[in-house]
Amino acid sequence: MAKRLEVLIPAARIEERVRELGERIGADYPQGPLYLIGILKGSFFFLADLARHIHTPTRIDFIGISSYGKGTSTSGEVKLTKDLDISIEGQDVLVVEDIVDSGITLHYLSSLLEQRKPRSVRIATLLDKPDRRQRVVEVAYSGFQIPDKFVVGYGLDFNEDYRSLPDVCVLDPG
Ligand code: IMP
Ligand code: MG
Repeated sequence: MAKRLEVLIPAARIEERVRELGERIGADYPQGPLYLIGILKGSFFFLADLARHIHTPTRIDFIGISSYGKGTSTSGEVKLTKDLDISIEGQDVLVVEDIVDSGITLHYLSSLLEQRKPRSVRIATLLDKPDRRQRVVEVAYSGFQIPDKFVVGYGLDFNEDYRSLPDVCVLDPG
């Protein structure tokens, strides 16, 4: 049976907020280069839009981490599915994530990146579900705090569906 979708954050609000975040990030790193590290696959819309509002030189790479198996709740298991192509040693790094939920993914990734001796590491996330946190993660740039609902769209998926929706939607509300 087809699942129901309800718009939670319309595309226009996302666009406005991403612009604000990008401009703030650019001002916080006036020199550059800032290394934007997107976590595949969910962050790729956010990273693409954010990067165009960061008025500082950037370099872009992606890392693959999976913590969710299939379905809507975390397995607690994290694995590296694709490593970075470039070295981040001595560089300012901004990890770009679609959503922080339990915090397990970013907790794991932060310690992995620290081993590579970057100059600094901060986190930017489009969405944050603070109610679900199991690990402490410090988020420097957060787009929207959302309630404990499963969301899709603007890069976020449910079993690989719905990523290309322009709005962030709650899947099967009610
Ligand atoms: P965490 O490790 O529990 O913080 O999970 C983070 C990852 O789980 C995110 O990068 C997403 O890929 C996925 N995730 C968490 N909540 C949602 C959701 O509501 N919709 C889609 N994916 C989600
Ligand atoms: Mg993800």
